[in-house]
Amino acid sequence: MLPNFPKPVSEDNRPVNRTVKVDDRLYDYLIDHSVREPQILEDLRRETAQYHMARMALSPEVGQFLTLLVKLLNPQKVMEIGVFTGYSTISIASGLSASASMLAIDKKQMWLDIANKYLAQADLLAKVDTLCANALQVMQEKAQQESESFDFLFIDADKANLLNYYSLGKKLLRPGACMVIDNTLWWGNVADESFDDKDTKIVRQLNDTIHRDTDVSLSQLPIGDGLTLVRKNTISSEP
Ligand SMILES: C[S@@+](CC[C@H](N)C(=O)[O-])C[C@H]1O[C@@H](n2cnc3c(N)ncnc32)[C@H](O)[C@@H]1O
Repeated sequence: MLPNFPKPVSEDNRPVNRTVKVDDRLYDYLIDHSVREPQILEDLRRETAQYHMARMALSPEVGQFLTLLVKLLNPQKVMEIGVFTGYSTISIASGLSASASMLAIDKKQMWLDIANKYLAQADLLAKVDTLCANALQVMQEKAQQESESFDFLFIDADKANLLNYYSLGKKLLRPGACMVIDNTLWWGNVADESFDDKDTKIVRQLNDTIHRDTDVSLSQLPIGDGLTLVRKNTISSEP
């Protein structure tokens, strides 16, 4: 039976052919029919679940999407900020070619210790350097010395510095390269006016900044907690 399609045009021409609502049943279907989570990531997820911050880690379908994206783009110089226990780090590094290198930064060594254990098990330490540091400081230094040299950036750290991460990220990317930012739908709170806390306001500000930014092409994907993909344009007038 065909789904009951809505009328093709609404009064004010808002799109009616919207993204499907993912309830628990549909989410389980998606996981069961498309996710191929490697054993190492399943083990890492189990270990991470012991910590009350476990929800900070990427969900498996997002990790798998990043692996595929990296395989498609074949970036050679990669930076990640916000490693936590390493789910995203391993997902990204798994898609990298042998010649690529990745710098993965987190401010807490205890998280990097866990990430390094699983990176070693996955035989990915030759491609990934983890660094315990303030990501903002590292990005500022790199923006001076290595501007326009990164092929892929993944931003998943504190929200307070989000706008700085975005502008420094743009400086670090070579034209034509890609930055991916996690949590851009912020548990749905961005669209709920009753939320006016600092972090929600910053995520809204970032979304509006990227939306207006003619230096980049973008797509905001309603996957996980919202993932925004940005490509630094090669000519300033690109759509
Ligand atoms: C949402 S978690 C990252 C989740 C991770 N990408 C994953 O898939 O498991 C955010 C991480 O950013 C780190 N972080 C927060 N502020 C930071 C900063 N200024 N510099 C470096 N790391 C930071 C936190 O310690 C935390 O581990």
